[in-house]
Amino acid sequence: MTKKVAITGWPVAQSRSPMVQGYWLKKHGIDGDYGRQAVEPENAEKFYANFAASGLSGGNVTVPHKEVAAKACDWLDDAAKAMGAVNTLWLDDDGKLCGANTDGIGFLGNLDQWAPGWDNEPGVAVVLGAGGASRAIIWSLLSRGFKEVHIFNRTVEKARELVRQFGSKTFAHGWEEVEDYLGKADILVNTTSLGMTGKPPLEIDLSKLSRTALVTDAIYSPLKTDLLLQAEARGNPIVDGLGMLLHQAVPGFERWFGVRPEVDDELRALILADLGQS
Ligand code: ATR
Repeated sequence: MTKKVAITGWPVAQSRSPMVQGYWLKKHGIDGDYGRQAVEPENAEKFYANFAASGLSGGNVTVPHKEVAAKACDWLDDAAKAMGAVNTLWLDDDGKLCGANTDGIGFLGNLDQWAPGWDNEPGVAVVLGAGGASRAIIWSLLSRGFKEVHIFNRTVEKARELVRQFGSKTFAHGWEEVEDYLGKADILVNTTSLGMTGKPPLEIDLSKLSRTALVTDAIYSPLKTDLLLQAEARGNPIVDGLGMLLHQAVPGFERWFGVRPEVDDELRALILADLGQS
């Protein structure tokens, strides 16, 4: 019987996950179906609590349901426990709902692919933003041994909340302090929506940033954000955010369909074309 998996969330029409998973299904000749399942917010708790009844054997979860889906899980991986949020679900042999959070794996896989050795001497990270993406990225940076992670956010209380969660290697700051810390940074990561197509620009002066610092953005539309263009122009190594989207999808495919897929150039080109950026 064809295994059915879907991206679940509200809305789901914009998600590129079906394209990514569909590419791998075709490449590996697997009889699987990866679709879209819109879950209205008022039905979300019930939907995930009765996930087996949906006819899906697994799925991805996107905003705004990552937390409510995590609460419905019988088992969570360490990342999902730390984040209180899941993006990948599957039913085990006993029908129990299992959840993982692979956003951090996506962040790390992207940098490992495009900036190998980036974490050879993990030092100081500067992270812009304190939302869901930030939480996953901070967790990832700490997992690779970064000694200080400085979090800058418009709403400083949200950064403080992350510090309360992640402990003494993390530091919360107001947005206005960021330029003073750039000189210490080995890596600068934007996790805010600033600079995304249709959102306000990210205004930041990089003149104090070391030219060896790696600059990366969780945004992939546009592929090269103003932050990345500015960093590239002054000679910093940069990595765009598309690979984070592609790499976070790997563990789900492997779990559902039993094959570990590759993030290859053809997949990247396919998504870029769909984004109108090829
Ligand atoms: P995600 O789950 O993708 O991280 P999110 O939880 O909505 O999304 O977080 C968005 C991030 O972008 C937050 O850090 C947010 O700052 P606030 O916590 O102060 O809202 C940041 N952000 C969004 N719009 C912003 C703006 N106009 N100026 C500064 N920061 C902004």
